[in-house]
Amino acid sequence: MNETLKTIHALRTIHGNFSDQEVSETDLHQILEAAVRTANASARQSYSIIVLRDRQVMRELLTYQGRQALVFCVDFSRLMATARYLGHQFNNDDMIGFVTAGIDTALAAQTAVVAAKSLGIDSLITNALHRKPLETVYQMLKLPETSCFPLITVVLGYPREKPAYLKGRLSTEFIVHEGHYQAPDEAQLPRIVAEYDDHDRHLGLIDNWEQQGFEHYLDWFYTKWCGLPDRQRVATGKIQEFQERLAQSGFWRPTA
Ligand SMILES: Cc1cc2nc3c(=O)[nH]c(=O)nc-3n(C[C@H](O)[C@H](O)[C@H](O)COP(=O)(O)O)c2cc1C
Repeated sequence: MNETLKTIHALRTIHGNFSDQEVSETDLHQILEAAVRTANASARQSYSIIVLRDRQVMRELLTYQGRQALVFCVDFSRLMATARYLGHQFNNDDMIGFVTAGIDTALAAQTAVVAAKSLGIDSLITNALHRKPLETVYQMLKLPETSCFPLITVVLGYPREKPAYLKGRLSTEFIVHEGHYQAPDEAQLPRIVAEYDDHDRHLGLIDNWEQQGFEHYLDWFYTKWCGLPDRQRVATGKIQEFQERLAQSGFWRPTA
């Protein structure tokens, strides 16, 4: 493997247990400069990155603490302000704009993760902000009310202790489709289940599903980790809060 592939294959999540070791400002600068090199639709860089250094703020907003946290926000506000400044009109606050900017934003976040790893710095990608009341997030980060949405956070730091193993991945044969989409067939389904059950592969979120009385890891996953699907498809709770926030941001206009 070349150095780039080695870095990618060494990626791992540190689930919050970061040490007190500083991430230097020089390294942080390099991580941010790498992140903004990422490809982006129409060369718009439709995101903003908020650097959090205050561990108390991190704890309050994310529950996780690292040395720094980078909040990657979908953001058209800067482009709108520049348009206004030059006397133009610009508005991309719709679902297509949100999806496209979301791709820019997520790709930039992943580049930050890879750049950090290349410097020996570990990370946690987290959507922890979405578990907070979004109003609180907007207030604490002073986010623009419209054209902006906090998509994903990358917490940076050095691990307190080395994880015992790298998490595995499902075999690419189940994920990569040649030429056209192929739904998993009867022979493949038990093999997928078996891969999750194989303790040596470390695919799942937990290892002790058998001790909890489950026959398969996915039995635990579907019944304990995932909420039951809403049969009536009526948005409630967090889903409703997300929809309302996206509507308020201008990205989503419910038709009904
Ligand atoms: C969108 C997204 C959200 C995540 N949120 C969390 C989180 O809130 N807490 C956490 O401990 N890990 C979180 N993770 C990390 C995943 O659990 C982790 O990537 C996965 O278990 C695979 O492990 P690995 O990254 O060590 O290979 C998140 C990852 C992604 C991409």
